[in-house]
Amino acid sequence: MSFGTGSIWMNGKLVDWKDATIHIGSHVVHYGSGVFEGARCYDTPKGSAVFRLDEHMVRLMNSAKIYRMEYPLDLAGWRDAVLGTIRANKWKACYIRPIVYRGYHTLGVNPLHNPVDAAIMLWEWGAYLGAEALEQGVDVKVSTWARMAPNTLPAMAKATANYANSQLIKMEALADGYSEGIALDVFGNVSEGSGQNIFTVRNGALFTPPLSASVLAGITRDAVMTLARDLGFSVTEANLPRESLYIADEVFVVGTAAEVTPIRSIDKIVIGSGRRGPVTEALQRAFFDVINGEVPDTHGWLTYVYPSESSLRSQQVAATATRG
Ligand SMILES: Cc1ncc(COP(=O)(O)O)c(C=O)c1O
Repeated sequence: MSFGTGSIWMNGKLVDWKDATIHIGSHVVHYGSGVFEGARCYDTPKGSAVFRLDEHMVRLMNSAKIYRMEYPLDLAGWRDAVLGTIRANKWKACYIRPIVYRGYHTLGVNPLHNPVDAAIMLWEWGAYLGAEALEQGVDVKVSTWARMAPNTLPAMAKATANYANSQLIKMEALADGYSEGIALDVFGNVSEGSGQNIFTVRNGALFTPPLSASVLAGITRDAVMTLARDLGFSVTEANLPRESLYIADEVFVVGTAAEVTPIRSIDKIVIGSGRRGPVTEALQRAFFDVINGEVPDTHGWLTYVYPSESSLRSQQVAATATRG
């Protein structure tokens, strides 16, 4: 199965992919009134597991709260809805896209008359910037587009409207022959990619822009900061001038879609040795070891989707023991 197949959760009901439609007059189509998430379920040796499910669902609820768009599901409800949809589709590994949006009733800027609807889509999504990129790194440019100014479109909300800006960044980068664009904030400091947070490495220490630099509070960003500190690296959230990118030893971007992807050049200036650096490689390995279930999940980041065979067996043993 891939994009275009399976069932989609819509307001609590599973509907066939081709029937998961909304009316052209839905508020979200005209006014960008939606908030969403992007998470991943990985096929680990211990079974399928969603990476940081609760953090993604909390961010979804917070994005909805910022837009006065509360949906009648709490964290447990969202967790069950996502896990139930994966189980219904029998996915081992998939990308998870929950969305909460203003639906169909009437049109006008005021969204409050429209219903708040929700859906959960699943599909197969490989390495976002290409499998080769994970090892070779990608060539990027600093975008001529800035990220949203503070107090305009809130960067902490993962809102569909923010992705109008992301699309401008991405299209410009592709048109100019790059894989991705890195945007500055309106003060000229480094912000983030069109769909990834960014890190630099200098003399073995890591730096990443603070949340005040118009970045999304990325869940991979948080995981990478934690893993880096576990490995003994110092990590500083600091405003980064554009030129600090060019003279960094290593630069990499992180996100649910991009995972941990090295950058080998920016504006045609070669970064470090022009290939994945040792710190990026160590963090990539640490990240992939967790998501592939190859090391103990010490941070409690994995939510297993299907009851494992061993736990099923122990339930059977317990049931037999009770009956006996
Ligand atoms: C603009 C933007 N920044 C950063 C990220 C990374 O966030 P996360 O690691 O939670 O996927 C994303 C990914 O969704 C994004 O769209």
